[in-house]
Amino acid sequence: MTFDPTTKVSELAAGGPALFFPDPPAPVTFNFDQGLAAEETFPLEDFKTLMSDVIDRDGGLALEYISMDYDRDADQITYLPTYIELMLGNTALREEVATWIGESQGVSGLTADNFILCSGSVQAIALAVNALVNPGEGVLVEKATFPYAMRFMHMRDADVRTVDIDEHGLDPASLRARLEEFKRDGVVPKLLYVIPTFQLPTCVVMPEERRREVLAIAEEYDIVVLEDAIYSDLRYSGDPVPSLLSLDTSGRVIQSHGFSKVLAPALRIGWIAASTPLINALASVRQDLGVSQWMCRMMVDFMQQGKLDPHIEKANAVYRRKRDIAVAAVREHCGDLVSFDVPDGGFYLWLQIAENVDWEKAQHEAAMAGVFCRPGEKFLGEDAGRGYLRLAYSHAPDHEIARGIKALGEAIVANAH
Ligand SMILES: Cc1ncc(COP(=O)(O)O)c(C=O)c1O
Repeated sequence: MTFDPTTKVSELAAGGPALFFPDPPAPVTFNFDQGLAAEETFPLEDFKTLMSDVIDRDGGLALEYISMDYDRDADQITYLPTYIELMLGNTALREEVATWIGESQGVSGLTADNFILCSGSVQAIALAVNALVNPGEGVLVEKATFPYAMRFMHMRDADVRTVDIDEHGLDPASLRARLEEFKRDGVVPKLLYVIPTFQLPTCVVMPEERRREVLAIAEEYDIVVLEDAIYSDLRYSGDPVPSLLSLDTSGRVIQSHGFSKVLAPALRIGWIAASTPLINALASVRQDLGVSQWMCRMMVDFMQQGKLDPHIEKANAVYRRKRDIAVAAVREHCGDLVSFDVPDGGFYLWLQIAENVDWEKAQHEAAMAGVFCRPGEKFLGEDAGRGYLRLAYSHAPDHEIARGIKALGEAIVANAH
């Protein structure tokens, strides 16, 4: 009997999105598709030194599942009470991250017990959804949001509904309306997932007053707020706005964050900060035996040597330059056929193409010229997303940003009526 693997796939897997997007119609020359940290910012020399320093100092202990120490006098491995690291990740790094988040966001009282380290913040988001949401319960997300987070919610069979956003982020009136809808429909509201600072894909920032309003509504309807802070340190202009975590007084905000955007995604270190009972809930739905001890030990050294904040400052100077190049190029080559707000941070320009442009044709011509962007449909769905475009300028070399946007602009201008 021939084996047909497609008949063996679970409904969950079969119902998922296609793993690979259709290939662009021509080779990609200008890649503005993914929101990647710029390679030129990676601290290669520091990482090279620190990784081997960790091995020189800690030997094989750096390559274990959990922290162990070696008592040289007794010639014996000391097993610290660290089995918890299988669930929460390296304790020393949790301590460092607690200090960093506490200081950078002005949150007092955070300790290692308020953190679970994960394989990127995306795993932390998945754990949060599994730990908090029962099938059928209500989850709210911004109208345009991070597709991977949505997928976890759908996999959990949550009742996922969208909240409107404007140039100041999530709209509190729409949030309240959706919560009332849940009430009317007999759905238990559980979680709001929101990216308040440099929102994906729009890069807008929610002002402090609105944050307080959102938290008051969360309080009123007794829901948990999952704040995705992955882009929040990538600020190139304007004043910082307090995080939801720092404004929270009741312990209902949990915050996902990580090193992927400010340092390097290959570390695969992200986390969630939350009250200890919620961290324990996340730990109880985790079965992957933790994060890399080697990478964590290296990051402990990186942070203890005071390298993280200066690194972010240097990286932000690079991204500020790239943003300015991208903004100038869009203005020069797209004119009033494209409208957008200049973001104060993050990795993207969120562009709206004018209605008098035959966007389908322009998009094809831009792709044929090697320009690869992420269409609005990927975030907003087929209808609402048409005519929007997310352009990630963070990874491309400076000269390619300018040349790629010129090619995009030529395709747009050629198809305007
Ligand atoms: C909004 C948002 N959240 C989370 C992530 C996940 O990042 P990581 O898992 O590398 O921490 C991304 C990555 O693109 C993102 O855009």
